Amino acid sequence: MRLCIIGTGYVGLVAGACFAEVGHNVICVDNDEAKVKLLKSGGIPIYEPGLEELVKRNTSNGRLSFTSSIPEGVAKSDVVFIAVPTPPLPDGSVDLSFIEKVAREIAGCLTSYKIIVDKSTVPVKTGEKVAETIKRYCKTKVEFDVVSNPEFMREGSAVSDFLHPDRIVIGVSTPRPVKRMKEIYAQFNAPILVTNINSAELIKHASNSFLALKISYINAISAICEAAGANVQEVAKGMGLDKRIGPDFLQPSLGFGGSCLPKDVMAFIKIAEDLGYDFTLLKEVQRINAAQMDRFIKKINETLWVIKDKKIGVLGLTFKKNTDDVRMSPAIELCQRLLKAGAKLRVFDPKGMEKAKAILKDVEYVDDMNKVPEGCDALVIATEWDEFKQLDLEHARKTMLCPIIFDGRNLFDPAEMEEKGFIYKSIGR
Ligand code: UGA
Repeated sequence: MRLCIIGTGYVGLVAGACFAEVGHNVICVDNDEAKVKLLKSGGIPIYEPGLEELVKRNTSNGRLSFTSSIPEGVAKSDVVFIAVPTPPLPDGSVDLSFIEKVAREIAGCLTSYKIIVDKSTVPVKTGEKVAETIKRYCKTKVEFDVVSNPEFMREGSAVSDFLHPDRIVIGVSTPRPVKRMKEIYAQFNAPILVTNINSAELIKHASNSFLALKISYINAISAICEAAGANVQEVAKGMGLDKRIGPDFLQPSLGFGGSCLPKDVMAFIKIAEDLGYDFTLLKEVQRINAAQMDRFIKKINETLWVIKDKKIGVLGLTFKKNTDDVRMSPAIELCQRLLKAGAKLRVFDPKGMEKAKAILKDVEYVDDMNKVPEGCDALVIATEWDEFKQLDLEHARKTMLCPIIFDGRNLFDPAEMEEKGFIYKSIGR
């Protein structure tokens, strides 16, 4: 099928490359000319495992192309996906101006029947607005259908998540587009759930908020474990073996970050409020998330006694492993708070240093994780990159001023770390 994807951010670019990979003809549109130029030349603007190969393979076999022109993208396709950003506004609601603008632009160039699919995360009832807008701005009388098709991929495993989803949700207001939508996903081995548009839109916010709730739940349990002398990893394992609970998203941390969960919880609270429901449960999820970082900083403070002028090494800057994304990263927030308290930071991240440089100025960027601890009063692990487990602990212990490690991701075993001579503080253990 001929598909157009408007927006080449994480969702749009991964979706475009994966749709091409399974045999569709895909044209990706972005209004950022520099990005389009980069993509056309075989480069990609983000680090995402497997994505570069996919983009290269499918551009060279002719199934994936890029343009900055919406009219060109729409003309060359049967189904048009909208995958533009929906950032938060200061009051917590969602900025839908990019969606609205794209809807107007699509309307301006519709000359034959198309299916317009919203893939961006949007508040319930956005589909209705998109349909209304297209109708209003359409110059000719032409038929179209609006579909909601929320995306559930995670950064760091986006390609594999997209190609092997748990489910595909298709929200429609008439049965007409269902057959084609199912054809698009025919090669994906996943259950397809057809709902109305409002339900599909709600599934996305309800799912992301539930995942955030799970993380806040285990982070709250981690606080209780610390007070009670229990081990949160053992508690999480024992809980996760219950099929009704499941083991995923029970990893205690510095709190959830990134460009989705914090924004979507905030948006869902606002959406519920606008619909007359006070979602206090989600407000508590936010409070626990903020408190988790506070507790970690308190732990550092109490152990070091004074943070001012201490040299602290930080491993990890991205909001999770396997990405170069530092947006709303708990690791960055941690660095900012340590800097504010007067610490001097030596930092390292396998992929996130370039992007971090735009945010974190007064820190020393180190090019090798094993050099980070040298001369430090303490070391903090802020992101769960697998390679951090291979840290040369012997070298760290010998070259640090004090062998103190604060592990915000529970990468090491507390007993083993003590045996190796470290003062080791982790989460919920
Ligand atoms: C999230 C959802 O998981 C995706 O399903 C969704 O499609 C995506 O948002 C989106 O709306 O676009 P993402 O933000 O990429 O995906 O990353 P997650 O894997 O959800 O992690 C979010 C944050 O929670 C990270 O800071 C991570 O470290 C943290 N986390 C995750 C934990 O602290 N503990 C866990 O057990 C899992």
